[in-house]
Amino acid sequence: MTLLDKDIKDLKVLISEEEIQKQLPQLAKNIEKAFNTNEEIYVICVLKGSIMFCVDLVKHFKNPIQMEFIRISSYGHETKSTNNLQAIDLTLPNLNNKNVLIVEDIIDTGLTARFLTDLFRIKHHPKKLIFASLLNKKCARQIDIEPDFHCFEIDDKFVVGYGLDYKGYYRNLPYIGYFPI
Ligand code: IMP
Repeated sequence: MTLLDKDIKDLKVLISEEEIQKQLPQLAKNIEKAFNTNEEIYVICVLKGSIMFCVDLVKHFKNPIQMEFIRISSYGHETKSTNNLQAIDLTLPNLNNKNVLIVEDIIDTGLTARFLTDLFRIKHHPKKLIFASLLNKKCARQIDIEPDFHCFEIDDKFVVGYGLDYKGYYRNLPYIGYFPI
């Protein structure tokens, strides 16, 4: 099958479905330990990329959970960050003095992470704010920011699958893949 300029038969597996799923129970445990509370946790799923990671992760939480969804776009149709962040929907309930977990798919330049953490701190005043990302592309960072938790550190390659897309495609793959250059 050919989708635009990328062919799925060229896609290589970087992180398998099993490797991803294996990380999630311990990650959920570590996040709950960091919140150190029996109160509810507001899980903020950053659409569209973190949808798969977020729904799989919350299955492992023991605390009561509220799920909220916000939508941001940063890549357009490119494979490099355009530095052009677009907030599409930031509608949220009152999070004042709540435990808030932001769930992202990947931190690349760090612009989105900085935007989100500043937004939540300044506008929502959470009791505790934790930022978790499935992937960390540390070598591509332009802003000095690190997630509180991440599952995998990856090289500076463009990846797809498990929520991450190329021109809107490949989000449904259960693994993380890349197209060798
Ligand atoms: P940042 O603001 O540059 O850190 O980029 C964050 C956003 O860019 C992520 O939430 C993704 O939606 C997108 N992104 C960054 N790297 C990749 C990639 O390798 N594949 C697909 N999307 C990516």
